[in-house]
Amino acid sequence: MKIAILGGTGSIGEGLALRWSKKHEVVVCSRDEEKALKAAEEYSGKLSDKGMVCCGITGCSNENGIRDASVVVISVPYDGVVQLLKGLKPFLKDQIVISLVVPMKKNKLFEYTPPKQGSAALEIRDILPKSVKVVSAYHNVPARKLCNLDDPLDYSVVICGDDDDAKKTVKELTRDIGNLSPLEGGTLASSYMIESLTPFLINLAILNKLSDLGVKFV
Ligand SMILES: NC(=O)c1ccc[n+]([C@@H]2O[C@H](COP(=O)([O-])OP(=O)(O)OC[C@H]3O[C@@H](n4cnc5c(N)ncnc54)[C@H](OP(=O)(O)O)[C@@H]3O)[C@@H](O)[C@H]2O)c1
Repeated sequence: MKIAILGGTGSIGEGLALRWSKKHEVVVCSRDEEKALKAAEEYSGKLSDKGMVCCGITGCSNENGIRDASVVVISVPYDGVVQLLKGLKPFLKDQIVISLVVPMKKNKLFEYTPPKQGSAALEIRDILPKSVKVVSAYHNVPARKLCNLDDPLDYSVVICGDDDDAKKTVKELTRDIGNLSPLEGGTLASSYMIESLTPFLINLAILNKLSDLGVKFV
């Protein structure tokens, strides 16, 4: 499967690129093509240093990277999402779009700050063509652990969306990463629940002097 990662040069984008490239063709996308090419080369180097087989990581501009991908991941900070997607809308047709986006702000601790639609995922669905299948997932997986290829990643991943086939694909992609275990989370309208867990996890980490908390439902 060809997976394009918008924000692939960032923290969680790197982790997803490293993990998925063992089984899939990954395109690291960026607003700056040079930056994407450099990141793709660096990630390939990390995998080869570990003696890991890679199906290919390439770098591309955001526009070119998503054109022929079957899955597009949105892993950019919330503040840039609306403008970015309005610009990329002409290149999105019937792809599966996975949103990891968490709208939040920091006061003393972190607060979930959803848009008027109720969640980032619903706002993204409203911006994109109706034929695009938006799925919400991976909000509660810590980037640093995802990037550490020695970490087994024993977490649950709640997956929300309105298209069952698209959710099935994302569940399969989830099983391709460490010990991540996909859980059905209902329709996209439920995304606010998993999005809002992220600032809660960060606050728990701050208050209890912990780091990189994730979630496992047992
Ligand atoms: N970090 C985590 O542990 C984690 C876990 C779960 C979910 N998330 C969510 O995943 C998303 C990405 O998080 P992150 O920590 O990886 O972010 P990040 O490292 O700060 O940024 C990721 C990438 O987004 C692009 N970007 C930054 N500002 C942008 C803008 N205004 N418009 C368009 N692109 C922009 C940049 O890529 P280019 O400069 O190359 O374009 C950047 O490398 C966020 O929404 C976050 O809430 C994060």
